[in-house]
Amino acid sequence: MAHDDPVPAGATLRRLGDLRGLQVGAAIRASTLSDNGSYGAVAAREFNSITPANEMKWASVEPARGQFDWSGADATVAFARAHDQAVRGHTLVWHRQLPAWLSGGGFTGPELLQLMTEHVEIEAGRYAGEIVAWDVVNEPFNEDGTFRTSIFEQASNGPGYIATALHAARRADPAARLYLNDYNIEGINAKSTAMLNLATSLQRQGVPIDGVGIQTHVILGQVPPDFAENVARFAAAGFEVCLTEIDVRIPLTAGEATPAQLAEQAADYAAIVEACLAVRGCVGVTVWGFTDLDSWIPSAFPGHGAADLLDESLGPKPAYFAVRRTLAAGGSMDGSRVTPD
Ligand code: XIL
Repeated sequence: MAHDDPVPAGATLRRLGDLRGLQVGAAIRASTLSDNGSYGAVAAREFNSITPANEMKWASVEPARGQFDWSGADATVAFARAHDQAVRGHTLVWHRQLPAWLSGGGFTGPELLQLMTEHVEIEAGRYAGEIVAWDVVNEPFNEDGTFRTSIFEQASNGPGYIATALHAARRADPAARLYLNDYNIEGINAKSTAMLNLATSLQRQGVPIDGVGIQTHVILGQVPPDFAENVARFAAAGFEVCLTEIDVRIPLTAGEATPAQLAEQAADYAAIVEACLAVRGCVGVTVWGFTDLDSWIPSAFPGHGAADLLDESLGPKPAYFAVRRTLAAGGSMDGSRVTPD
């Protein structure tokens, strides 16, 4: 497909994001950063925000009880500092990627809540002042809007652990915006309504919560038509919104993505970015990997792939140009989205 692109060649995604006061971010792997100089160069050039893909998860930072490995997290934060990028912290409390000593440790409920609280304090405290926003709790809901059962949910006999984690994060890093983050909450549905209700009820109780992360892992052709309407109802309730983990996975029925699929993917990416730009309370868009080189999709969703803006050689796909055009086109370039601090 030819790229009939009216945006000046020097206009990176990052530059366009800066002009809008919009975080334009990417999930980054510290290991790929150290292996591949071009990967780091592109990450620095194209994004004003980064999120560590795995390096801040509990299994990464405390593989054995009391033995911390901050190497990947520190490298990510150092990279961001060197390139004047925001860091979105991901994630403090999640039911996955937990260290085995914790998930299989046979702890009582009170012990688990104590360990969770200490973990939040230690990690958020270590990076206090460096993190623009923390995904404090990740994926707390089932698809039907009920609370997901997890070791933390069981420890508090319900969702009480969420407030506990948010309070601990605020104490440890008062400057970070505190988020709940989940998937399949792009459109208006039972799960997104449950998230809105939870966030609203926490806010009413005085629990520190600033934002909701809408992960935005979508299948080709399936961006919900009511995405912007859904983002708007979170903003109307007083929450920041960030699209935190965008990718558009392609069913590779033809072996590799076809030109028609890549064109449809470009339209999907544009629609996703539009859903954020349409709502002032939407502070950013982060892609979950910017290159098909290190995408999590092929292993997580066998038969799917080619989900990212750049191909495996870091060349721009139609989706890259579509995102650039969308960032350049809509809304006003008044920087009004910058969060005052
Ligand atoms: C993924 C990482 O990208 C993979 O490398 C890892 O093997 C599994 O986790 N939702 C999330 C992210 O909140 O943390 C997940 O990241 C993708 C789904």
